[in-house]
Amino acid sequence: MAILHIITAPDRRLKVKSKPVEAVDDAIRRVLDDMLETMYQAPGIGLSGVQVGVPKCLITVDVSRDDEEDAPLFLVNPEIVAYSEELETYNEGCLSLPDQFADLERPGEITVQYLDYHGAPQQLRADGLLSRCIQHEMDHLKGRLFVDHLSAVKRGMILRKLEKIRRQKVSA
Ligand code: NI
Repeated sequence: MAILHIITAPDRRLKVKSKPVEAVDDAIRRVLDDMLETMYQAPGIGLSGVQVGVPKCLITVDVSRDDEEDAPLFLVNPEIVAYSEELETYNEGCLSLPDQFADLERPGEITVQYLDYHGAPQQLRADGLLSRCIQHEMDHLKGRLFVDHLSAVKRGMILRKLEKIRRQKVSA
């Protein structure tokens, strides 16, 4: 397994729409393994392929708490087939937007269909943090970041801040 580089915003590669995976083979499983390791090391609770430069419909998630056993979830070609009408607000962050957070409203409960690590079709009903995390990661597959849900002013503020931090890092 390998730790992959996580692309941070602003970056055009994060706006790429991810392509569905044709077959969950060993090459795809290797990417999923690397993504999971990268996500744990970051540390984060969700990661999409596009964030590590692989614009394929791949997501890793683990919302278990520190005092619980790891509960990794691999979602290939995920599709949300049902949303609750009820909305919930969460303070969201993103590994591609380090140290930036914003309150965002999204449906509280979802039903998602996907292929698992072995290519078998699965259906999962999720609420709470898991639902939130999957919706956030699925946005990445469409080339969307959580800041794209915010007003242009707020989004611009966050992206300029990140750009500035990056410039300081390069010149340091
Ligand atoms: Ni993210």
